[in-house]
Amino acid sequence: MDAEKNYLTINKESWNNKTEVHLNSEFYDLKGFINGKSSLNEIELNLLGDVKGKSILHLQCHFGQDTISLSRLGAQVTGVDLSDKAIEKARVLAKETKSDARFICCDIYDLPSHLDQEFDLVFTSYGTIGWLPDLDKWAKIISRFLKPNGKFVFAEFHPVVWMFDDDFENIKYNYFNSGAIVETESGTYADKNADITQEYVMWNHGFSEVINSLIINGLTLNSLDEFDYSPYNCFNKTIEIEPKKYRIKHLDNKIPMVYALTATKVN
Ligand SMILES: C[S@@+](CC[C@H](N)C(=O)[O-])C[C@H]1O[C@@H](n2cnc3c(N)ncnc32)[C@H](O)[C@@H]1O
Repeated sequence: MDAEKNYLTINKESWNNKTEVHLNSEFYDLKGFINGKSSLNEIELNLLGDVKGKSILHLQCHFGQDTISLSRLGAQVTGVDLSDKAIEKARVLAKETKSDARFICCDIYDLPSHLDQEFDLVFTSYGTIGWLPDLDKWAKIISRFLKPNGKFVFAEFHPVVWMFDDDFENIKYNYFNSGAIVETESGTYADKNADITQEYVMWNHGFSEVINSLIINGLTLNSLDEFDYSPYNCFNKTIEIEPKKYRIKHLDNKIPMVYALTATKVN
């Protein structure tokens, strides 16, 4: 099978596989979440501002924790994800938590054939664009679903992080997009010892690729920040420097780990 050509099938199966493990992981703390804990981090909360009464499109929502967290803050939220297992669980979770968040299962590139609405905000975060081959198509989707003057909020792992091998010992991958990266992994970032193995297809995207795709598609950049920590303990060889702030121990604060940007759709 040509993995790059069949990336949607491969990645859907991989995320379906991971979802079951994630639901039972300490990392996603489902019990705490059901009891009211927000899954959102300071970085994106600061950029989102007051979302009460706002309509939000949440791209690549996994099984809906961030989507439901946003709805708990008073927003009307629509979450979208490729994984049918994740969306199935998101809908159950919304019911269980009495959230009015709604969910759509599809490839984000295919969203215009499932949804016809414009939103105050489009939001997507942490572990998203690496699953997408074409950021021009990604930015077109963001622009299509934003109202005029609507705001895009994006928090993502820094492209520098994806240059390293799993233990952050050597530079293994290209900073720039040099085509599909096809690999097989055991376990997942949320449970490294989980007894699952899956193939996946990913792409690295440098800063200029991300930012130019947004500009070309009618968005104006309002802010861009880089952070020397990750709010998630999802990498190897980490140290927690403050609650919910993780670095690679032997690299200390030498590398950026996360970036976040906001952009507005020009009228
Ligand atoms: C790392 S998760 C999203 C991160 C989220 N912040 C979380 O931790 O819950 C990435 C999600 O992207 C979804 N995904 C991957 N490729 C996609 C595509 N082409 N269209 C829509 N969703 C996709 C996966 O199914 C997965 O749920």
